[in-house]
Amino acid sequence: METGKPIIIGCDHAAYELKEKIKAYLMDKGYPVFDAGTKSQVSVNYVDFGKKVAHAVSKGKYSKGILLCGTGLGMSMVANRFAGVRAALCSDLFAAKMSRLHNDSNILVLGGRVLGDILAFEIIQTWLDTGFEGGRHLERIQTIDN
Ligand code: RB5
Repeated sequence: METGKPIIIGCDHAAYELKEKIKAYLMDKGYPVFDAGTKSQVSVNYVDFGKKVAHAVSKGKYSKGILLCGTGLGMSMVANRFAGVRAALCSDLFAAKMSRLHNDSNILVLGGRVLGDILAFEIIQTWLDTGFEGGRHLERIQTIDN
């Protein structure tokens, strides 16, 4: 993936700690990151942050986003309501890879209460390094928004 365009990242309180570690990981690897919050462990509604990130990706302001909440479930539900967003909740490397190859996922969703930080980094790196296969998969994903 090109490292020029920032990756937008958002979370709720349940995944704040992991989000901070992920930000540091990405910045260390040279990826510019835009942090849409939340910015502390104070309890918030994950929907507000999911909407911010999904809206920005839906409008093409960012080509890739990462969302985190406790399980990743709430953030996935929110993000996938936005046109053009294909949010993939991944807890393993195979899902991360396939979500790019076949689904051209543009938001990666992670569970802060599910994953350890090293596995989260590996999932993110796999997701960023894998391209969309196109072909028959392009026609298929196009029908999602139709
Ligand atoms: C917060 O307690 C938790 O509900 C949230 O992080 C998320 O897991 C929702 O899906």
